[in-house]
Amino acid sequence: MTHTSLVRVALIGVTGRMGLALLQAAPHFPQLLITGAIASRASLALGRDAARLAGLPAANLEVSADLERALEQADVALDFSRAEAVPEHLAACRTAGKPLLIGVTGYAVPEEDLRAAAGRIALLIAPNTSVGVAVLTELTRQAAAALPGTFDIDILDLHHRGKADAPSGTARALAQAAALGRGLGASAPGVTVPRGAGQIGMAVLRAGDQVGEHTVLFSGSGEALALTHRVSDRAVFAKGALQAALWLAAAPPGRYGMRDFLGLKTVT
Ligand SMILES: NC(=O)c1ccc[n+]([C@@H]2O[C@H](COP(=O)([O-])OP(=O)(O)OC[C@H]3O[C@@H](n4cnc5c(N)ncnc54)[C@H](OP(=O)(O)O)[C@@H]3O)[C@@H](O)[C@H]2O)c1
Repeated sequence: MTHTSLVRVALIGVTGRMGLALLQAAPHFPQLLITGAIASRASLALGRDAARLAGLPAANLEVSADLERALEQADVALDFSRAEAVPEHLAACRTAGKPLLIGVTGYAVPEEDLRAAAGRIALLIAPNTSVGVAVLTELTRQAAAALPGTFDIDILDLHHRGKADAPSGTARALAQAAALGRGLGASAPGVTVPRGAGQIGMAVLRAGDQVGEHTVLFSGSGEALALTHRVSDRAVFAKGALQAALWLAAAPPGRYGMRDFLGLKTVT
């Protein structure tokens, strides 16, 4: 971190839906300055002013593919690009010794690489940066533990038609929380008919401009319990990510989730 209290942020995937939402949310955080605007090497926006792309006054913030340089000038990086680019971004942050929040979902990075990186840098893995989903994840674990094993558990995942991965990273995390609560260990959610014993179902819809909705449905005989989280404005993810970035910039190396930043307590 710099000696001043200003936290400098490199935004990776700056031209995307989330990248633009992050640029628009940044002025709400006077303690934070976006110093890097990173897109792919093939981006049509290279050289353009990122702030202008987001509909803001020009800020002399040029869209670039030079992540190494952006990391030199940043205290923390936020990755909201694409799944296939995550390994390269993780390696660059590890080399530069800069904290990284991975907001991208659906990526495949070997567990040992994540662990090794977290030994060097503060690494926050956040498939969903909304406060509500962090609480929903905890409620899911608790409900799965409290309800009888005869209740079926299903995750419903609704997003816009442009979303690249399915099920969503959030839906996978909710399934994991349910499996943990029910004492199933690592479970592979999916739909089979008839339902396998202890299986957590997963239903995915990709439609229109839906920002994101997740429901965890506990269905028993004669009763059902549904926990739903609905996002109507992408700014929710952006503000959560920027708040988390402020926290992460000062965190020691290690692996974190949103619950660490929010200080959520596990109720047993
Ligand atoms: N954590 C959360 O709360 C949360 C919330 C919403 C979405 N997400 C996830 O965030 C990711 C982005 O979502 P989105 O809807 O913003 O997607 P998007 O609109 O497709 O934006 C992704 C952007 O990444 C850029 N990009 C592609 N390859 C890159 C590379 N190698 N280096 C740097 N930038 C690169 C692309 O821009 P150019 O073509 O200009 O390079 C593209 O505009 C997805 O994985 C999504 O699931 C997470």
